[in-house]
Amino acid sequence: MIGKKVNDAINAQIKNELESYYIYLSMSAYFHSKSLDGMGHWMRVQAHEELTHAMKFFNHLIDRGGKVVLKDLKQLKTTWKSPLDAFQDAYKHEQFISGTINDLTTIVRQEKEYATEPLLAWFADEQVEEEANAGKIAEQLEMVGSDKSGLLMLDRELAARAYPPGSPLNPVVPAGNA
Ligand SMILES: [Fe+2]
Ligand SMILES: [Fe+2]
Repeated sequence: MIGKKVNDAINAQIKNELESYYIYLSMSAYFHSKSLDGMGHWMRVQAHEELTHAMKFFNHLIDRGGKVVLKDLKQLKTTWKSPLDAFQDAYKHEQFISGTINDLTTIVRQEKEYATEPLLAWFADEQVEEEANAGKIAEQLEMVGSDKSGLLMLDRELAARAYPPGSPLNPVVPAGNA
């Protein structure tokens, strides 16, 4: 059975992951509205991943005899100055999330909730990938600058991100065009 302090901290992390889901879905809508459907698709896949992150914590809390309490989600941005601005925001957000995983690991160790450590180790690994992905795309967008053909090329490339089967976030863009 999980203690109250860790229980509360995991509920806060469920909120963080759901907010991540929400942020990337909002970015997806932004990119589709700019006809950058590859980036819209990439963000949709990212949003799906965040939902699975939230559910990992959700399920773990239930398995440990804890109590899931869902919290209000923050009011979100709906637009960005540019694709670069959006991906820089995504990169900053992933750095923030890495910090929250570190803080959660500290609490878990202080409270001797060792049964939760393997899950957090998985997330620490995942955050390496998340920061690298968003950071790399932001850097590439910086390189592209105001070159529209470079932007379109990157958009096509990001359209190729593998889509998890059976996801409720199925792309609106037909597969052939995605
Ligand atoms: Fe996440
Ligand atoms: Fe990931």
